[in-house]
Amino acid sequence: MSEDFQIVAIDGGAASGKSSTARGVAAAANFLHVDTGSHYRALTLRALTEGLSPQKGTALDRFLAGLRFETEVRGQCACLRLNGDVPDAADIRSDAVNAAVSDFAALPAVRDAVRAYQRDQAAVARKHGFKGLVMEGRDIGTVIFPEADLKIFLEADASTRAARRKDEGQTDTIDNRDRIDSTRATAPLTAAPDAVRIDNSNIPLDGVVAEVLRLLQQRAPGSYANVSAASACSERNRPR
Ligand code: CDP
Ligand code: CDP
Repeated sequence: MSEDFQIVAIDGGAASGKSSTARGVAAAANFLHVDTGSHYRALTLRALTEGLSPQKGTALDRFLAGLRFETEVRGQCACLRLNGDVPDAADIRSDAVNAAVSDFAALPAVRDAVRAYQRDQAAVARKHGFKGLVMEGRDIGTVIFPEADLKIFLEADASTRAARRKDEGQTDTIDNRDRIDSTRATAPLTAAPDAVRIDNSNIPLDGVVAEVLRLLQQRAPGSYANVSAASACSERNRPR
């Protein structure tokens, strides 16, 4: 990586705090934020709409070959435009998508379809003048950016994560998704050996963001010295 452009990989299970942490870091450090879960969700939504299941081998291969991936940068968020459409956030977090996404994401062909697009987001970030990229998912530190400057593995205990999802009003079988995601053969959810593990069950969001910024600063002294975690997490700074 060049000295002035940094890549932060954030991985972890469902409701471990990845998106909120990544948003806070992006806002504070002027990084582009990429939520790779939204890629698998958008693909799943489209597949379900076309009547496909993860078992439909040939039809699924045809479907994957016909997908076109582009990025629409909105604020600090890189939104996936799939075949010309940025899907609605509520649609990709529907119960049907929650129930099917891990089965689609476990297929090597599905992961092959998104890998190059995800790696390309570093070039998108540079092109748009961001100082770095913060990408979150399950395999960012292990497969997509094993060369990332900083790898974070977020954890929170099961009851905290379930309570977080409930507070968001979502019906989501997070245990089931975590089980499928952790046990699949290709790119399972696991911490990279050099990832920093942060259990945030009892740490408020601004504290986690501050810790990630501190670790970033350690790696590039001086770059983020004036950034405060409070400003990082303010609603005003959240990408829309
Ligand atoms: O928001 P939440 O943590 O519940 O899930 P998400 O990040 O939106 O990811 C949805 C699903 O996509 C996960 O349960 C995984 O099956 C899959 N995923 C993946 O396989 N690899 C990634 N890098 C990101 C998500
Ligand atoms: O992206 P992921 O599914 O891992 O989690 P998230 O959507 O960032 O976080 C799930 C919920 O937990 C959100 O409502 C966050 O505000 C909350 N959260 C928290 O209370 N404390 C943290 N340290 C991190 C997240």
